Amino acid sequence: MKKNVLITGTSTGVGFESSILFAQNGFKVYATMRNLAKATALEERIKSDNLDIEILPLDVSSLDSIDNAIKTVIEKEGKIDILLNNAGAGFAKTLEDASLDEIDWVTDVNYTGVVRTTKSVFTFYERKKSRSYH
Ligand SMILES: NC(=O)c1ccc[n+]([C@@H]2O[C@H](COP(=O)([O-])OP(=O)(O)OC[C@H]3O[C@@H](n4cnc5c(N)ncnc54)[C@H](OP(=O)(O)O)[C@@H]3O)[C@@H](O)[C@H]2O)c1
Repeated sequence: MKKNVLITGTSTGVGFESSILFAQNGFKVYATMRNLAKATALEERIKSDNLDIEILPLDVSSLDSIDNAIKTVIEKEGKIDILLNNAGAGFAKTLEDASLDEIDWVTDVNYTGVVRTTKSVFTFYERKKSRSYH
């Protein structure tokens, strides 16, 4: 069975390219993005290069959105072999110019988003394991 990898923030950049590289190297890829309207470029590569990539919605700011994606993959695969917490956002401002709301937003996506997503993987993996033991 193929190893799988779930990647966050795959609409552009490192997440987009990593999705393709993992698939080219024999992984089943769950490429997630917060806005599926941005999936066209990846969908085209999946088609043209016949890549084993499934696109799912996942916004790292929303626990419901994270849980839905993680649950879907763990129910299907039994586990997630690699979680690539790639999604990130930011701005170039000094501390005195950035508002507290902007700082909260960056912290929420870049730090809490990683914690939420990683904890969700543990939670659904443990649930799946305990169900299969009874
Ligand atoms: N490139 C660099 O030099 C560099 C250096 C240091 C660290 N990094 C980190 O490496 C990662 C990738 O960088 P990149 O250059 O590929 O950046 P990028 O092109 O801006 O890609 C960031 C990705 O994160 C997604 N994202 C933002 N907020 C999200 C959310 N709430 N939920 C889910 N996805 C979200 C974006 O989706 P949308 O398209 O919907 O906005 C986009 O797909 C980031 O975490 C970045 O901070 C990059």
